[in-house]
Amino acid sequence: MGNIHQSITELVGRTPLLNLGGFQKHHGLEANIIGKLEYFNPNQSVKDRIALAMIEDAEKSGKLKPGDTVVETTSGNTGIGLAAIAAAKGYPFRVYIQDQVSKERFQVIQAFGGKTIKLTEEPTIAKTLEETKGDFIAAIKALKENVLDKEEGVTFVDQCSNPANPDVHKRTTGPEIWEDTDGKVDILVACVGTGGTISGTGAYLKEKNPNIKVVAVQPGPNSLPSAEKPVPDEEITGVHPFEGVPENLIPATFDRKIYDEWIAVEALDAYEAAREAARNDGILIGASSGAALYAAKLLAQRPENKGKNIVAIFPDTGLRYLSTNLFTTEE
Ligand SMILES: Cc1ncc(COP(=O)(O)O)c(C=O)c1O
Repeated sequence: MGNIHQSITELVGRTPLLNLGGFQKHHGLEANIIGKLEYFNPNQSVKDRIALAMIEDAEKSGKLKPGDTVVETTSGNTGIGLAAIAAAKGYPFRVYIQDQVSKERFQVIQAFGGKTIKLTEEPTIAKTLEETKGDFIAAIKALKENVLDKEEGVTFVDQCSNPANPDVHKRTTGPEIWEDTDGKVDILVACVGTGGTISGTGAYLKEKNPNIKVVAVQPGPNSLPSAEKPVPDEEITGVHPFEGVPENLIPATFDRKIYDEWIAVEALDAYEAAREAARNDGILIGASSGAALYAAKLLAQRPENKGKNIVAIFPDTGLRYLSTNLFTTEE
């Protein structure tokens, strides 16, 4: 009937592209920086795409049955997206959360009826973290083997190893960019967390036109934990280093051959770019979007990129960072 949707699952994807004219003018840029506004997804982030895809993939394969519990180990955007999609589809949802995660994240997941468990509250994880001096990957592996694999009616979706993650970007994000630019895209810029976005979107675009350049963004050295500073002053949530990182620590969802170039962006530069997008174009984007925008600016300043169309993925909304320093003004 008419144009009434029956489920939020129908509202995932088909996000708009916006040419950041104000930002370009502000910096005197001669290339187009076009943001893909993923906060237009129903739960305000790019992760709605993989939340829906991972759940529907598990349904199709028969792994996830009515009444089963969906489980994930991230309270980030994926946790929020999964909590909402699981609620809409009638599945219980459980997420294991790092203790330092902000209160808002717990509240949002709980609002969707999701169950939140702190890592230190789960004995297997707490023990492994203690034995390995905080190795999160080892702790999740132990949780999977010792707890989740032994539990009936549980589907651990695991965004870092699930092929449905890059696949949904190849099926949706890539084609949307290609269609909405009429194929006139020269460069794709995306931050890397699980690597799903850049791998799937980049694969589709390169299939359409092998000359499209794919640029991957990682945090700069000052925005990463180091021996001197285990917790950096500022960080880019959801974005992880990959250059120089051993293969066994790279998520299976990241195809390292997909990018032609990588750029490291410091958190403070990412924050400033996000603030400039707010002031000049009226969009409130998150820290990783700011990082992609800053990298896009560096690319736009190169003479060889004059007149080119640079599409940058903006994964989420700045509203998710009001308790961080992203939009706090200098005293
Ligand atoms: C806010 C934010 N931006 C960017 C990314 C990176 O996306 P992907 O995991 O597809 O590489 C993530 C991933 O967790 C994220 O949470």
